[in-house]
Amino acid sequence: MTTLFPRDKFNDISRPLPSHQLVVDEIATADIYALGVGAFAPLTGFMDEVTYDMVCHEMRLPNGLIWPVPVTLSVSELDACCLKEGMDILLKGIDHTLYAILHLTSIYRPNREQEADLVYGTHDPHHPGVKRLLQRGPVYLGGDLDVLHIPRFPLIDQPFMRVMTPSQVRSHIKSRGWQTVAGFQTRNPIHRAHEYIQKCALEIVDALFIHPLVGPTKADDVPSSVRIKTYEVLLEHYYPPDRVLFSVYYAAMRYAGPREAVFHALVRKNYGCTHFIVGRDHAGVGNYYGPYDAHKIFNRFSPKELGVTPLFFEQAFYCRRCDGMATSKTCPHAPEHHVYLSGTQVRTMLRKGEDLPKEFSRPEVAEILKHYYRG
Ligand code: ADX
Repeated sequence: MTTLFPRDKFNDISRPLPSHQLVVDEIATADIYALGVGAFAPLTGFMDEVTYDMVCHEMRLPNGLIWPVPVTLSVSELDACCLKEGMDILLKGIDHTLYAILHLTSIYRPNREQEADLVYGTHDPHHPGVKRLLQRGPVYLGGDLDVLHIPRFPLIDQPFMRVMTPSQVRSHIKSRGWQTVAGFQTRNPIHRAHEYIQKCALEIVDALFIHPLVGPTKADDVPSSVRIKTYEVLLEHYYPPDRVLFSVYYAAMRYAGPREAVFHALVRKNYGCTHFIVGRDHAGVGNYYGPYDAHKIFNRFSPKELGVTPLFFEQAFYCRRCDGMATSKTCPHAPEHHVYLSGTQVRTMLRKGEDLPKEFSRPEVAEILKHYYRG
C-alpha cells in the first residue's frame, strides 16, 4: 500500500529515516505526486520488473487490471551501484525536499528500445517521449512508496492553487450531485475545436471536468502559467459555471498517443469521471500515430473492465459554409471551407505577431497567446 503522510505529520515523524538517499528528477517527482494522491490507483509505487514487463507487453498489471504505460523510477548506474533489494531509500527532489521512502524490491535493467517500441510504437529518438526515456537512467528501481511530502508544482504558485486531489474532486462531484462527468485532458490552450467537443459532451453528461496537464512537457508546448490564464478567461466568458469543474493535473506528459489515451482515461476515472473525451490524435505528437489510433485501442478492452466510458470525437473545425463548428460526421462541405490550424501553424502565426482567426480561437485566448509570444 502507498502510505500518505500529511505534511504536518511528516515533521514529527518519529521513526528514523533511511540513510540511503537518491535525488530524483522532475518526472519522478510528478509520478510520486500522482502515486501519493491516488491518481494512479491501484498503483502503490514504482513498478517492479514483473509488473513492468506485463504492462509493456500486455497493457495489464499482474492482477489482470488494465494499465497501459510503465510508471518507473530510472536512475544512473552510479546511483544504483550500492543499492540492494530490501533496502529503504529516501527519495529527494531536485529542490532537496524529502518526498518519499521507496521500499526497494526490484532492481532491473530494462531493454529501453523494446519499451519504446511497445509503449510509443517507435524507438525514434526524435519522439519526445522516447527521447526522454532514453535520456533517463538505464536502471529501474521498483517498490512501494511511503509518500512523506506531497510534491508541490515547482514552477509557479498559480497552477498549484488549482491542484485538487482525486478525493477532493470526487467529493466535489458528489456535493454537486453530478451523476455523470466527462473528463477532458489537454496540454494546450483550449481552442474552439476543444471547446466544441467539450460542449458536445456536456450536452449528454451532467458536468465537464477540465483537467489540463501542468507537469513536465516538451519545450515548445505553451507553458502552464500562460495556459492557466487562457483557461480562466475562457471559463469566465464561455462556460456555464455550475456545470464545469476546472483543476490542473500535475503529471508528466508522455506523448504515448493511444496507450496514453487509455492511461488518461483510467486516471480521470480515479478523479471521479464517468466519461472521458478522446478526440483526434489524443496525446499524439508529429505523425507518429494515426489520427484515430487512440480511439481504436479502446476496442481491446471491455467497457466493464475500463469502468469509464470514452467519448470519441473526430477532427473538429469551423466550417464557413455551415457557419459553425462541425466534424466530417456533420458537415457536407469541402475542406476549403474549413478553418483548422495545426499546432505548428498556430505557433508560427503567433511568433510572427499575426492574429489567430476567431474561428480557430476565442479572441480573449488569442490575445493572451499573442502577448506571450510577443515576449
Ligand atoms: S493532448 O493531451 O491530447 O496531447 P491536446 O490539447 O492536443 O492534448 O488535445 C486535447 C484533447 O482534444 C484530446 O482528446 C485530443 O484528441 C482532442 N483534440 C485536439 N484537437 C482536436 C480537433 N481539432 N478535433 C477533435 N479533437 C481534438
